[in-house]
Amino acid sequence: MSKSYNIAVMPGDGTGPEVVREGLKVLNAAASKFNYKLELTEFDYGGDRYLRTGEVLPAGAADELKTFDAIYLGAIGHPDVKPGILETGILLKLRFELDQYINLRPVKLYPGVESPLKDKGPKEIDYVVVRENTGGIYTGIGGTSMKGTAQEVAVQNMVYSRFQVERALRYSFEYARKFGKKSQGKGEANTLGLVGKTNVLTYVYDLWERAFHEIGKAEYPDVKREYYHVDATCMWMVKSPEWFDVLVTGNMFGDIITDLGAMTQGGMGIAAGGNINPEGVSMFEPIGGSAPKYTGQNVINPLAAICAGAMMLETLGEIEAAKAIENAVSKVTATKLKSMSAGKMGYSTSEVGDLVAGQF
Ligand code: IPM
Ligand code: MN
Repeated sequence: MSKSYNIAVMPGDGTGPEVVREGLKVLNAAASKFNYKLELTEFDYGGDRYLRTGEVLPAGAADELKTFDAIYLGAIGHPDVKPGILETGILLKLRFELDQYINLRPVKLYPGVESPLKDKGPKEIDYVVVRENTGGIYTGIGGTSMKGTAQEVAVQNMVYSRFQVERALRYSFEYARKFGKKSQGKGEANTLGLVGKTNVLTYVYDLWERAFHEIGKAEYPDVKREYYHVDATCMWMVKSPEWFDVLVTGNMFGDIITDLGAMTQGGMGIAAGGNINPEGVSMFEPIGGSAPKYTGQNVINPLAAICAGAMMLETLGEIEAAKAIENAVSKVTATKLKSMSAGKMGYSTSEVGDLVAGQF
């Protein structure tokens, strides 16, 4: 009997709907071959709805989304809405309310894709960043005083509890054990690298570092442990990305280094991510944003959304289907696409979707 999954689809703003359409095209094309079925329910959360109704998310939205097996998101961000309103009101709110405490962001150069890193290919650029997704500076704890005066003071705190750190670390150790380079036959060890700043953030990353070694030693002795400062990590992401296997870090550092990682893998057109609650409902998205200037032109690259769809299948347990979609994307990047950039692919958005879907 085929398995059926209830998916909440949030196409969102800008080019979100265009890329989600292609993602669903591919997920549906693979469905009969891999014996699953997707029941889709669409939600119109995003900038247009906000401008129409004055409401970012209706009351009870998160509770309703909790009843689905997964959420498939296009993009949030509208040129007519002041920056911050939709991002915090929809994206961050859902990450927090659904307790999606992991943001999984693979940095993977697909064959045929040009990287700005000289002499680095798919073999060298192939690692995963686990970004803690509900803590750190993103909690918004802090405040201002004497705002608007010359004496204004602003504080935004980096907040981490042992609980938050431990669960992010355990997820990362498990991930490294299952999907690290040794497990994939690509290296000698499964390695988890903690990215921090223990030389300056002597409270927060000290907590991370102690928990990292304690948990690693007691529960994951088979996973090799490394520690890197975040600034040095940026250096090595450019110079020697092949050193990395699985990296784990706090929310803010993770946000920053994954944009750098995305560029090294060919740009936002191909970078996918998952906001994961391992015990609950997860949300998958291309990490590139709404790219409003390309809206409706059928030129945006849908591969990031397609890869986010594959990650969603993997998390739902459809591992074979997820792998097959990744392979289909690899074939298309290796043999067809001229570039990953909007308007320069040599194909339209829908044609790229057709090319990938055509492999099934
Ligand atoms: C991301 C984005 C978001 C973040 C913004 C839009 C709030 O940059 O998903 O990386 O900072 O997490
Ligand atoms: Mn970001």
